[in-house]
Amino acid sequence: MQKKENIIQTQIIKIPDDKKNDASFLEQHTDLKNAANALSKGHLIAFPTETVYGLGANALDPNAASKIFHAKGRPSDNPLIVHISSSDELYNIVEEISEPAKALMESFWPGPLTIIMKKNTSVPSAVTAGLDTVAVRLPSNLVARTLIKLSGVPVAAPSANISGKPSPTCADHVVEDLYGKVDYIIDAGCCEVGLESTVIDATGKTPVLLRPGGITLSQLTKACGNVKVEKSILSKLDKNFIPRSPGMKYRHYSPKAPLYVVRGALQETATCICVLAIDNLSRGKKVGILASEQSLCLYKSLLENLLYKGNIFIISAGSRNNPSTIASELFKILRKFDNINVDIIFSEYFDDSDLGMAIMNRLLKASGFNIIDA
Ligand code: TXA
Ligand code: MG
Repeated sequence: MQKKENIIQTQIIKIPDDKKNDASFLEQHTDLKNAANALSKGHLIAFPTETVYGLGANALDPNAASKIFHAKGRPSDNPLIVHISSSDELYNIVEEISEPAKALMESFWPGPLTIIMKKNTSVPSAVTAGLDTVAVRLPSNLVARTLIKLSGVPVAAPSANISGKPSPTCADHVVEDLYGKVDYIIDAGCCEVGLESTVIDATGKTPVLLRPGGITLSQLTKACGNVKVEKSILSKLDKNFIPRSPGMKYRHYSPKAPLYVVRGALQETATCICVLAIDNLSRGKKVGILASEQSLCLYKSLLENLLYKGNIFIISAGSRNNPSTIASELFKILRKFDNINVDIIFSEYFDDSDLGMAIMNRLLKASGFNIIDA
């Protein structure tokens, strides 16, 4: 007989837009205080951060942490990020703070940077998947920081999505994935950055960038000198390569439909995507195209006579001149394609430098590194 899942009564707490940065309003918010209390007692709370929504649990409580893995369907060998509300709290969870870590904290906290440090004994191995290091992040989002502060405990939180799916950048995405599995969902609108934090290992002499994000490689280098870059950020993992960040080995961020990334000059890319789209349309498939502001008109003219068929969905991720717009839209659009139930998705390849490194890391992983040269 199949085991019956427990359904939790999920309460959604809506934070008004004009109060998101009002510390005294947030600290006195009764529902937020109740959520923080539940968090400290071992319950699961989904909350906004500046990057993506997180699924939080008391990081000092192994049972609470294990609930996260269960709710997300996350492999237990993939460690969690521990979130704190002020740098002072760091001393409760880490053994030592290296010089590069100090420089990074100084430059980028609070903000979208996760730093790997040597953990102390208070952090249970359920949180770190048995590693002797812990990933720590001090978010800039005030709702997140207030929740952590009110809870009085460090908060372990992965992205608040079902494992493998695109990370949630709006509360609706969290509701889609986790309603009935968490006690509270705190809705404070859409996340600014839209991609998960940059992860850097600062335990050694030279820090290693493990996951690109809102803080770019050139910003990191400026703050702490030389930074190594983990292989596999923009290329497929070699079968024998063991990544330092266990999360890197899993298929991630994936929409339901297969996704192909087409690389080349913009005009050639658009033409190639149109040929592929027409071929799929002619076989009765629903097609999604992830375009940019600069290319929308190319598709419109190339596919003019086909658009009426209603089986093709062309969405602009934003402007190539402003990659932060693409970063904040990417996961939203992948989820939109899921909801429209497209059969296949073609995306343009975007510039992969600076913030583009994070955008292309997520897009290529979402595609399983299916690249087509135009
Ligand atoms: O922006 C973010 O970082 C969001 C929000 C909620 O803060 N969180 C997030 O968590 O993206 P998650 O679990 O989806 O990604 C955490 C990544 C994984 O790739 C994991 O393997 C890596 O960080 N990680 C965690 N602890 C680690 C450790 N001790 N050593 C190496 N990698 C670690
Ligand atoms: Mg995640």
